Amino acid sequence: MNDIDVLLDERRRFRPADDFRQHAVVRDPSVYERAAADPEAYWAARARELDWFTPWNRVMEWTPPHVKWFLGGTLNVSVNCVDRHLATRRDKTAILWEGEPGDRRTLTYGELSHEVNRCANALRTLGVGRGDRVAIYLPLVPEAAIAMLACTRIGAIHSVVFGGFSPDSLRDRINDAGAKLLITGDIGYRRGNPVPLKRNADTAVAACLSIEHVVVVQRTPGTPAAGAAFHAPRDVWWHDVMRHASPDCVPERMDAEDVLYILYTSGTTGRPKGIVHTTGGYLTGVAATTKDVFDLHEDDVFWCTADVGWVTGHSYVVYGPLANGATTMLYEGAPDWPDKDRFWALCESHRVTVLYTAPTAIRAFMKWGDAYPARHDLSRLRLLGSVGEPINPEAWIWYRRHIGGDRCPVVDTWWQTETGAIVISPLPGITETKPGSATVALPGYSAELLDRGGKVIPVGGGFLAMTRPWPSMLRTIWGDDARYAETYFSKWPQRPDLYFAGDGAKRDEDAYFWILGRVDDVLNVAGHRIGTMEVESVLVSHPAVAEAAVVGRQHDIKGQALAAFVTLRAGRQSSNELRDELRRHVVDKIGAIARPDDVLFTADLPKTRSGKIMRRLLRDIAEGRALGDTTTLADPAVVAGLKEQYESMES
Ligand code: PRX
Repeated sequence: MNDIDVLLDERRRFRPADDFRQHAVVRDPSVYERAAADPEAYWAARARELDWFTPWNRVMEWTPPHVKWFLGGTLNVSVNCVDRHLATRRDKTAILWEGEPGDRRTLTYGELSHEVNRCANALRTLGVGRGDRVAIYLPLVPEAAIAMLACTRIGAIHSVVFGGFSPDSLRDRINDAGAKLLITGDIGYRRGNPVPLKRNADTAVAACLSIEHVVVVQRTPGTPAAGAAFHAPRDVWWHDVMRHASPDCVPERMDAEDVLYILYTSGTTGRPKGIVHTTGGYLTGVAATTKDVFDLHEDDVFWCTADVGWVTGHSYVVYGPLANGATTMLYEGAPDWPDKDRFWALCESHRVTVLYTAPTAIRAFMKWGDAYPARHDLSRLRLLGSVGEPINPEAWIWYRRHIGGDRCPVVDTWWQTETGAIVISPLPGITETKPGSATVALPGYSAELLDRGGKVIPVGGGFLAMTRPWPSMLRTIWGDDARYAETYFSKWPQRPDLYFAGDGAKRDEDAYFWILGRVDDVLNVAGHRIGTMEVESVLVSHPAVAEAAVVGRQHDIKGQALAAFVTLRAGRQSSNELRDELRRHVVDKIGAIARPDDVLFTADLPKTRSGKIMRRLLRDIAEGRALGDTTTLADPAVVAGLKEQYESMES
């Protein structure tokens, strides 16, 4: 019997076109077998594509659940992403940027080098050194990439926090990492409105003892920081510290296993997890996968639409493209600003050749209609990518047809914050694709589908696992190694070497993977992971709330939407005002991405006799399905009442 049911049967196939295949970076299918025969040799060869100060003396050491790659090797990430391109690409555009209001900037590799070095020196002057943590809370402006690279130059560990997160979320992340310095902006822009980043940062930092300085990027030169106070000497302007900094900064020689960055992601318990990535393995993984999966050629303009606040932005906006000497595009704003064709206008005017975006965006484009892309010349595009959640076959086909002109291959790439780099994906010059399937693991990786007992499922549904370590995998959870072992390596107690990704998947007769989504209490809303526990904890922190359960229900655009079931404290009355207040409370505490679509007040939550909330039933209710097995319920009347209420709810 399968643990997970297989429902979808998709039969369409797309082979790489001959001319694409002939010019592809990876053309020889034997790479899969060669890598499988000796994965360490494969990754060592990929690592040799980078510049090292000193070579490693051992490729890999695996003492589950801890791994080290390229032991004894030293390198610097900024040297690999910037310095080494100066000889041949000094005048090539490294960063192509457009702000939401339409302002533009480009940085050549020469200019990027200048900025990164100056920023690195400025950080040193402000007391930041090797191993110190720097929090970055910026809009998607070139300074975000410059700041990240500057940290890597001096061996500081960055923790980028998405600019859409609330002051509380920022505070928690700063405190967990013990960051010494925060880099933020005066404002950001979202759909024409200024986002008060500095004000948020001030609120957060008021409760962060570790912060010594706040560096403030002025988003629009000439305008003062929109209403935010400036607290000298703690606060300093980016342009002031940069002006006085030298453009020559000797890079730190980092050990391959030194921490490169921390990035927080949702887990099943209330606290976000600080995912730790290290230097040599991470860069090897992202550099290799960017080149192979996106078939990078010298004249490509690569646009990954993610924000730097997410792992996709780290790996495929900044580190992967720049390690390959590519031109990477950054766009600050929303896809529907000022109109719903903004992405296509950007593709046309910046002559984008490779586009990497998320299913939630693709579904929105589909809904807005074919006319928007049709207004623009998208003929420069030659490859399309998707990431973040399962892409429905219809969205995949629409993407290929209306954006890719039926000529661009589509690569559906599966990976996670924890994996650091793409794991399962087609190679566009080799793999026959099927809409909705991420196909097979890239060379060098070993992904399997396992059943509850840890047995391999060749065809059918099961749990997605990695059976061997890979260079760009997370090394631990910042400050909580026990949680690392427990979260990722305890699913199959008899096999503590197996990494459990938290996803369910199915495998077809061709051994292709079809990712089905999370099997834990983590939701995927618009491509972003949200722990239901985090939202529940916030709801319960409201004085009116006694208990809360949050589940996901299907949503046409976002993939999943949040439905919150709330019981109130004695004496508190439910009302539409309170419903709005609770939604606002979640936005204030976490950010708009966690805003529940539905809030349902209930006298009781359905529980088992041992007191566990039965989320499965809540999901059935939220999705309007017939209720599953209710025999273990303590009080069956509760769900019947809830179902009725839900159906009559207008929200
Ligand atoms: O459930 C999978 C889904 O996103 C999760 C990882 O989320 P995060 O760490 O935020 O990283 C997102 C970007 C890499 C996975 O566990 N996911 C990601 N890519 C895909 C996907 N689900 C299906 N297909 C994908 N291509």
